[in-house]
Amino acid sequence: MSGVEPVIGAGGGAAGAPPQLQEMLERARGALANAHAPYSRFRIGACVRAGSGRLYAGCNVENASFPVTQCAENTAIGAMVAAGDRQIVEVVIVTEGAEPCPPCGRCRQQLAEFAGPDMRIYLCGPEGVRVTATLGELLPMAFGPRTLTRPT
Ligand code: THU
Repeated sequence: MSGVEPVIGAGGGAAGAPPQLQEMLERARGALANAHAPYSRFRIGACVRAGSGRLYAGCNVENASFPVTQCAENTAIGAMVAAGDRQIVEVVIVTEGAEPCPPCGRCRQQLAEFAGPDMRIYLCGPEGVRVTATLGELLPMAFGPRTLTRPT
């Protein structure tokens, strides 16, 4: 199985998926395998594709002081920014759980710093894409960099 066939019905899976999706999924799975999640035992891998075409993967990094935990998307975005990219074109999030795993509220806000409302987010399981959503669907009326525009 290629891992990018839609699992949920029309519009919910990988319909219209870009050719890079398979590689993004592999990178996200590779990161998931390195997740540090001894407390929740809930491993997550993420991969963002930047405007430059480069891919950045990340995993969740938990801490014995639980609130210090870093989300997988956060790790991937940090790698992207450190490498000099500033635009997110697409995101893959992969988990091993039974349910599709949408990004938490904090991660949605972090994605909104570097992406517009049409940016696609692929929620994946071990078998491939389960749900496709846009950032605008997950975070409508987002507070973003433009909100901070001040009168001159
Ligand atoms: N987690 C993520 O990595 N991304 C999210 O968007 C939601 C939650 C992680 C944090 C923690 O390590 C585990 O999932 C359980 O909450």
